[in-house]
Amino acid sequence: VLSTKAEKEPELAKKVNVTGTIHLLNLALFQNMKHKITTKFFFPSSIAVYNTKGIDKQIDESSYCNPKTIYGQHKLFCENLGTAMDIYGNEQNLKIDFRCIRFPGIISTNTLPTGGTSDYAPQMIHNAFNKKEYTCFVNELTCLPFIVMPDAIEAISQLMNKSKDSLNKTVYNITSFSPTVLNLLKIIQKKYPDFQLTYSIDKMRQSIIDSWPDFIDDYHAKNDWGWKPKYDLDTAFNDYIVPQLTKY
Ligand code: SER
Repeated sequence: VLSTKAEKEPELAKKVNVTGTIHLLNLALFQNMKHKITTKFFFPSSIAVYNTKGIDKQIDESSYCNPKTIYGQHKLFCENLGTAMDIYGNEQNLKIDFRCIRFPGIISTNTLPTGGTSDYAPQMIHNAFNKKEYTCFVNELTCLPFIVMPDAIEAISQLMNKSKDSLNKTVYNITSFSPTVLNLLKIIQKKYPDFQLTYSIDKMRQSIIDSWPDFIDDYHAKNDWGWKPKYDLDTAFNDYIVPQLTKY
């Protein structure tokens, strides 16, 4: 349950995002007992764990983890629970090999997200491709870190394939590019010059985005497991988004 929807339906969000994760962690412990292994567990977290309102700088993994949203609070709680199970284990001393990535907004050509707050970027792109105009719910200077789906998948695969002793952390940031809405508009209109963008600002969604960082520091992912995105904004748009949308 993504951030905008979680804010509107907190009970549902708790049930799916927190209780769901706890059930999966318990299942991992059960696997440990059954197969006498330490189960590897991947948890997809989010830059929503940060609250950088009023702070204009890059952040590392430990700063400003004081999320404004219920969604971010739930993500942080699950990160901490998983990390505790990795370090300390449960009462029978069973541990989980917990690995987590804090994702920026993700842009996919195959699916459109719903209920998220970073949805405006993929929605703009898909609408432009489908020759539809788009009414953006955040203002033109809004800036957020993004990544495209192939890089997000590659990051999970890289992290999960590393040996545990090469990892200094359980939770990692990754990032690719941080466009403003205007930067996105510019690159979209280069390819689709007729694309029209208007604005109708949703105060709640704008305030969520304003609490998230513009840039994040992915030093530890680079250092510990060689993370490097394949795409920047230009290549993401021209070599992944446009060809894939055209193909499918
Ligand atoms: N991208 C998600 C959202 O917008 C946050 O992780 O809700």
